[in-house]
Amino acid sequence: MIAIHCLNGPNLNLLGTREPGIYGAATLADIEQSLRERAARLDIALTFRQTNHEGELVTFVQEAGAAGAGVLINAAAYTHTSIALRDAIKGAGVTAVEIHLSNVHAREEFRHVSRIAPVCAGVISGFGPHSYIVGLDALAHLLRGQLPSAS
Ligand code: DQA
Repeated sequence: MIAIHCLNGPNLNLLGTREPGIYGAATLADIEQSLRERAARLDIALTFRQTNHEGELVTFVQEAGAAGAGVLINAAAYTHTSIALRDAIKGAGVTAVEIHLSNVHAREEFRHVSRIAPVCAGVISGFGPHSYIVGLDALAHLLRGQLPSAS
């Protein structure tokens, strides 16, 4: 059985009430539940975590690496700023997929830059909670060797 850690960054604990015009009405618990259903169907052992702290997100990535798990990551604002997170993904040697609820390229210019995209296998952005499902599917394919790795 493959293992995937879904890691969520700052302010995603506020989903449901946070800027619903951008992020929708689903809570992080709703997203977790639908992801767990999908993971069960695909025979994936899923760990789902959220933190508001950059260093803790780095630790989560390291723990995924130590567990031999793939990483599905919505790093939220740290996507655009965190070299520490980029180094963690690279250093832990994890296969990672970057995801976003919103289409970051249709938003402010500072969201067009991702510090972690170069060390991720791919990026999925703009499909709301479905970004998590698409990301899980893509990562599972990669981990099972069913998709060519771009790197
Ligand atoms: C986000 C996009 C980021 O730019 C933002 O800082 C977030 C959420 C998304 O899922 O659309 O917190 O990662």
